[in-house]
Amino acid sequence: MSEPIRFYYRGAVHTVDDVSPTQTVLQHLREDLHCTGTKEGCAEGDCGACTVVLGSLVDGQLELKTVNSCIQFTPTLDGKALFTVEDVQQADGALHPVQQALVECHGSQCGFCTPGFVMSLWGLYLNHDAQPCSRKQIDDALSGNLCRCTGYRPIIDAAQRMTELPKVPFDRAALATALQGLQRSQGATYSFEGRHFHAPRTLAELIELRASRPQALMLAGSTDVGLWVTKHMRELNDIIYLGNVAELKAIATDATHHPMLVVGAGVSLNDAYGAVCAHYPQLREMWQRFASLPIRNAGTLGGNVANGSPIGDSMPWLIALGSEVVLRSQAGQRVLPLEAFYLDYMKKDLQPGEFVEAVRIPLPLPLPQANVQFRTYKLAKRFDQDISAVCAAFALELDGGMVRQARIAFGGMAATAKRAPQAEAILNGQPWDEAHVLDAMAALARDYTPLSDMRASSDYRMMAAQNLLRRFWLETRAAAPLASSDVNVWEAV
Ligand SMILES: Cc1cc2nc3c(=O)[nH]c(=O)nc-3n(C[C@H](O)[C@H](O)[C@H](O)COP(=O)(O)OP(=O)(O)OC[C@H]3O[C@@H](n4cnc5c(N)ncnc54)[C@H](O)[C@@H]3O)c2cc1C
Ligand code: FES
Ligand code: FES
Repeated sequence: MSEPIRFYYRGAVHTVDDVSPTQTVLQHLREDLHCTGTKEGCAEGDCGACTVVLGSLVDGQLELKTVNSCIQFTPTLDGKALFTVEDVQQADGALHPVQQALVECHGSQCGFCTPGFVMSLWGLYLNHDAQPCSRKQIDDALSGNLCRCTGYRPIIDAAQRMTELPKVPFDRAALATALQGLQRSQGATYSFEGRHFHAPRTLAELIELRASRPQALMLAGSTDVGLWVTKHMRELNDIIYLGNVAELKAIATDATHHPMLVVGAGVSLNDAYGAVCAHYPQLREMWQRFASLPIRNAGTLGGNVANGSPIGDSMPWLIALGSEVVLRSQAGQRVLPLEAFYLDYMKKDLQPGEFVEAVRIPLPLPLPQANVQFRTYKLAKRFDQDISAVCAAFALELDGGMVRQARIAFGGMAATAKRAPQAEAILNGQPWDEAHVLDAMAALARDYTPLSDMRASSDYRMMAAQNLLRRFWLETRAAAPLASSDVNVWEAV
């Protein structure tokens, strides 16, 4: 039986039962609700003109997050609250401090990007309880918004100014209560013209659905799949949506053998990177440079791993750290080292009826049990919101000055994210010194035959990969290692 889509919008429950399961939220807003403040720039999550704020209950707690409405499908709104630029103005018609600050600081010219900036700033304002934010927090909140007229300084000025204006409260408790009334006790299916959008709520329901509908497409954060519809014009058939499965949203630790962080496949990229960074602060820059905040709010670590793009940013560091992927089906769990999951270009060891349940990441052992040096680097043309040309990760287990074990993995250098066995063999059991690093750099040319494409030439990729290994050495050598102020762009701000 088809259940209608119900979400909280403009102070009331809004019901939808007559749209395609792959209609985007942006299309629904503009074409069905005639709510045209939200703009379409790129239709691929890149420009931020379509930014909206979603409210949802996670473990009973209210979360307010920016997402790109152009790549989210309307049925994913079920049980959530949707806020657009039209909802920001105060009840008496006065401008919200976010809007007022943009006016005062001249943060808008043609205005096309402005609704998206307003929503990103409104999200920041709400999530910081209208308190002043650091320049870094502001830049991060705006990482998914492009403006081609104004220049970013006046917009950043507005972000600083908005918290100096009289505060406007937001009734979180009332929204949480409204959302409570929309939560379903079990999974639901929305159907339209013979296409089905299944939204299970429990792992057991998901396993059952996956077994009975092995051809259905798994949908998590929609930051890859959304583009198949908006850019590749693909007609998708039945969908199984993972976004409501409570068990997949958990982050836990498991100390059965080696201590592991177990990140459920439905955990957002932002939450997953936050949890891993608490143990590996070296990952902080990658966290910040992974797409933009709205993409990290919607996209999942499980989706990054399951999609398995050779230029995805999580796989190199997950592989270098020795992570495992947990696969689940009616037959039970199957656990593989992540590198064994990738068979060939976009080909994975995923059996019919199976899905990614979690990613297991080894936690660092305290000294002196293990002395691990770890770094990951992303090379792309822009700091934010850009796909890597080359992505590198290095993890060295050292015993005094000797390398007990080296794990090196690259993205952008082969058809899958892949380890560098020849370079690793040169380093294993040897002193961590420049001579061996130079030999390992040369060995990378035997480990990889990178492609030339629009992002980078084969020669560039190889030279960059070799130089990243050299950078890792310079940062981790025992004598005179490079300070983070020499290598981190934020240290220069
Ligand atoms: C503007 C933009 C910028 C981006 N920048 C980056 C970047 O900097 N670095 C980067 O690596 N990626 C980037 N991406 C790609 C994307 O955000 C990531 O790959 C993301 O992790 C995908 O997760 P998702 O939850 O959105 O997956 P979805 O789009 O929902 O799904 C992706 C694929 O994985 C499958 N899938 C999802 N979850 C599961 C599961 N649990 N089990 C089995 N199959 C599953 C789906 O069927 C689909 O084939 C960007 C995308 C956009 C639009
Ligand atoms: S329209 Fe560009 S991000 Fe959505
Ligand atoms: S004001 Fe014109 S794109 Fe930003």
